[in-house]
Amino acid sequence: MSHAELDQTAKSILIENDQGGYTIPTKGLYPYQWNWDSVFVALGFATFDQDRAWREVEMLFEGQWRDGMVPHILFRKDDPSYFPGPSVWGTDGGPIPSSGHSQPPVAATVIRDLVNADPSGKALERAAGLLPNLMNWHRWYLTYRDPKGQGVLAVIHPWESGRDNLPDWDEALRAVEVKDIGPYERKDTSHVDPAMRPHKEDYDRYLSIMAACRSVDWDPAEVARTCPFFVADPGVTFIFLRANRDLLALAEQLGKAEEAEEIRGWISRMEAGARTLWHEDLKAHVGVDQRSGKMTDGISSAAFLAPYAGLTGAETLGALQTHFDRIAGKVRYLMPSYDPDHQSYEPLRYWRGPVWAMINYMIARGFAEAGDQLRAEKLRADTADLIATSGFAEYFSPETGVGAGGGTFSWTAAIWLAWASPSHSQQAA
Ligand code: DGY
Repeated sequence: MSHAELDQTAKSILIENDQGGYTIPTKGLYPYQWNWDSVFVALGFATFDQDRAWREVEMLFEGQWRDGMVPHILFRKDDPSYFPGPSVWGTDGGPIPSSGHSQPPVAATVIRDLVNADPSGKALERAAGLLPNLMNWHRWYLTYRDPKGQGVLAVIHPWESGRDNLPDWDEALRAVEVKDIGPYERKDTSHVDPAMRPHKEDYDRYLSIMAACRSVDWDPAEVARTCPFFVADPGVTFIFLRANRDLLALAEQLGKAEEAEEIRGWISRMEAGARTLWHEDLKAHVGVDQRSGKMTDGISSAAFLAPYAGLTGAETLGALQTHFDRIAGKVRYLMPSYDPDHQSYEPLRYWRGPVWAMINYMIARGFAEAGDQLRAEKLRADTADLIATSGFAEYFSPETGVGAGGGTFSWTAAIWLAWASPSHSQQAA
């Protein structure tokens, strides 16, 4: 398929997965609105329909909870093809049935991109409408996912990280007692080869964490205090730090001095906190189990998001470039979601090795901003090759490039349109 044909296919995927203002990640496997999926999808829509891009993000914020949280899934209608659905979550925090935790907060960054892409000023007005929502969501993150004010964000569930079965969660997850779950039937493995999905032992614990949170009615302070899983995540932390920089720029552009001052405080806190995730022996940022105090022992693709978060000091950047080149020597396609030199790496199992297009996009953006165009371009070219060879898969093997997980995947299509496609620079909004 030519690049122009791929551009066309990518647009058709977004249009096909559109449910009337919000987009599902893919039919069958993920039939609802997912938080960070939607926000990346907006970048794709923005290449051909700005209004539709805004609608995607605005519809996500329609589900914001009273306490400020923006949930990871909005269940606008019940769909038996997905488990666990709304009745298992048992939440009551917002206007739309939803899951009970959040997902990586990429929204402020994408909203700023949408504003920058529209010189007419209309986009800035729409951003002004969302600024209070963004401020409340970011305050919620700081209050309930960094309750001790350490400048790092924890996740209360592997799903909150967006990187479900990452090896980083293994040890903390094994410490979660399996209880209050009863018999259940997974649906994901009827859509996708089980070898590409998390194990049953993982699901038992995913559901046990949900049961523990349900038992405190998803009260965010109680969840932070008692949740059996509470792990500081470099992925969410870096995405949040970056989002705060973009939120600051938006607040300044909108003349919101008080908000801007508040956000500056958040940035200083997060910059200081990020240092505590630095693993001196590995020379990379890793997760820290907030319950046991233990650092995780491998390098995930989130470590490469430090430059995206604005952490471009010589030691960090130099170490990441060394890791980047080492890993590039091991696999055909960058960036595997987990270090191929680690014993837990599995090239086809979801977040234990496969390449994800939107992670490559964020890593490349950070590297380009840090002046490393060469490595940024390698990531773009690898992503384009993967999609041209294997289509718009959910994720890809870093070794063979074969597509895995769900097919006709919305964010893969969106990232193609907004970044990976060789024609993106002419098309991009
Ligand atoms: C799933 O169901 O696998 C999702 O990733 C949860 O967000």
